[in-house]
Parts: sequence; C-alpha cells; structure tokens
Amino acid sequence: KPRVLSGIQPTADSFHLGNYLGALRQWVPLQDEHDAFYFIPDMHAITVPQDPKLLRKRTRLAAAQLLAIGIDPERSTLFVQSHVPEHAELSWVLNCITGFGEAGRMTQFKDKSAKQGAESTGVGLFTYPILMAADILLYRSHLVPVGEDQRQHLELTRDLAQRFNARYGKSFVVPEATIIKEFAKVYDLQEPTKKMSKSGDNPKGVINLLDDPKVSAKRIKSAVTDTGSEVRFDRAEKPGVSNLLTINSALSGRSIAELEQRFAGGGYGDLKGDTAEVLTGFVTPLRSAVDGYLADPAELDRVLSRGAERARAVASGTLKRVYDRVGFLASG
Ligand code: TYM
Repeated sequence: KPRVLSGIQPTADSFHLGNYLGALRQWVPLQDEHDAFYFIPDMHAITVPQDPKLLRKRTRLAAAQLLAIGIDPERSTLFVQSHVPEHAELSWVLNCITGFGEAGRMTQFKDKSAKQGAESTGVGLFTYPILMAADILLYRSHLVPVGEDQRQHLELTRDLAQRFNARYGKSFVVPEATIIKEFAKVYDLQEPTKKMSKSGDNPKGVINLLDDPKVSAKRIKSAVTDTGSEVRFDRAEKPGVSNLLTINSALSGRSIAELEQRFAGGGYGDLKGDTAEVLTGFVTPLRSAVDGYLADPAELDRVLSRGAERARAVASGTLKRVYDRVGFLASG
C-alpha cells in the first residue's frame, strides 16, 4: 500500500476550519487505501515559545480531535513526534545537506522572523522545514495531504530527498503534496484575502472547531462580505462571499452552483444563516466526541504510545540505512 503522512501542530486549544477543510478532512478517506501515518509535531511547536503545561494539554487535545474527526488508530499510525527520536536524528543529517540560502528562502520563516525580529527568532524556526522534511522522509511517504501554506516546505522536502539519493544512493521516496485546490486556502472571515490562521490578528476571523457553536454562528453572521448583494462565487470581486460559499459547500456536500442558485434571491443574510446552521450541525457532535476522548486521558496516552511504537519500527529502519549511507560507524 502507498504511504501517506501528515501532521498538525498542537499550538492552540482547537483546530480551526482552515486546518480541517484544507488538510484534516482529506486524512480520513486516505486511511482506506493507504498506509497512513498521522502525527502531532510537538517539536515543531517549540520553535516559538510555548507554555509547557499548555503544550502537554494541547497535545492531548489534538489527539482527541484527530480521533473525533475519524482517524482510526487501528488503521492509521497516530503518534506524537517527540516520542520518536528518529525525527530529530534524521533532521540533523538533512541539516547538513541543506544550503543556508535555501533555508533562508522559505517564505513562512521570512514572514514569521520579520514579525518577531532577528534577535527573538530562534534557530529552530529557521531549521523547522528541515525537521518537517525528516518527518516525511523517515516514513518513505508517497503522499502528504496539506494546505497551500505548506507547499514550499514540500518542495524543499523533495529537493532534499533527491539530493540525498543522488549523493548517497537511493534511500528516500520523493513525496508528492496533495493539495485540494478548492480548499487549499480557507480565508479569514474578517479579512477574506488573508488565510484563516491561529495567529491571526482578529479572533473574529477564525472558526475554531471546539468553540461554542453559538460563538461560531455569530462569527459567520458577522463575516465581512462584499459590496452588492448577489451571491456569486468570484474570488477576485467577492472574496468574502466566495469564502462562505466554499465553507458551506464543504460542510453540506452541496455544490457551489447549487448554493448560488439557492441563495440567488435572498442575499448575503440567507447564505450566512444557512452556513451558520450547517456549521453548527457539524461541530456539535464533534465537540461531544472530543469530550468523550478527553474523559479518559490514560486511554488516549495508550493509543499514542502504541502509535509511537509502530512509527519507530519504520523510522528506525530508515535512519539505520541513512547512517550507514553517510558513513557512520555501526554501533555494534
Ligand atoms: P499547521 O499545524 O499549521 O496546520 C495543519 C494543516 O492545516 C493546513 N492549514 C490550512 N489549510 C487551508 N486553509 C487555511 N487557512 C489553513 N491553515 C492551515 C496546513 O496547510 C496544514 O496542512 N508544518 C506543518 C505541520 C507539519 C507537517 C509535517 C505537515 C510538521 N511536519 C510533515 C505535513 C508533513 C504545520 O505547521 O501545519
């Protein structure tokens, strides 16, 4: 079976709708035909300051949310990155074949470090994409389902895989990103030309899966829309309306064309009301499923440690081969 791998950071109490529609939703059906590895990159999380207690709590919250959306730990390997030391070990080797300039061209790093200033930017943030490459290459993954903002990191991963293979002999699978065009970028509700993001400036622009559905409904209803009153999908002229249509269509299974027709007469108000309703219908059972998993943290931890064991079985084989290829003396 071809392998699929992806990860989501435990840096907020809740995943947001961008995470879900851009990435997580694809993870579920991919479990059927693929050998799936899904993980929580806590080592990526500490590239910016984290409160240790919160990080631990959010790691469990992330696991509970992944189970609740339908990741099945019997069919998928679900684990926490720091439980598998091979990620850090491979990342060191990859650091040594990555150009300084090449890493410096990563736009996410440039944006984040520009915001924080060079003195408060950790070196970990700079090497973050190389750790991500290690995550992917360790499992010889074929497919990596992510949103648009990870595309450049995937390109780097492919370059590093090809470079290593050319220099030391074929060791890695060169992975493909799977990015679903319509949902690759879910936009902020208040600034619909910017991506929805947990670090966004205005919390009203973000729909968190675990927020009170009443709060989320309100956020949908106060979403910034566009001039005019025609409900039509048009990213350039009507970014706000297009974003709502995308969200509604993804959660309701109705096509954009169907929605345009349905709300042709009613204007933006009807579209917002219906979208709020569809969203509530989706998050209400999800929230209670998450609560169910959180009620038994010991069982959650068991699921994660079984996952880590399975992950290590694959990761250690890859790392061993890599160490041999680069000329490290076997440790006997
Ligand atoms: P993270 O935790 O920021 O986001 C998780 C996933 O959500 C997608 N995403 C979006 N998709 C559409 N619209 C949005 N507004 C939106 N916001 C976020 C992201 O593209 C991502 O797929 N570096 C990764 C985590 C990671 C990883 C990996 C992923 C670490 N190692 C190996 C894949 C493979 C990240 O920070 O994602």
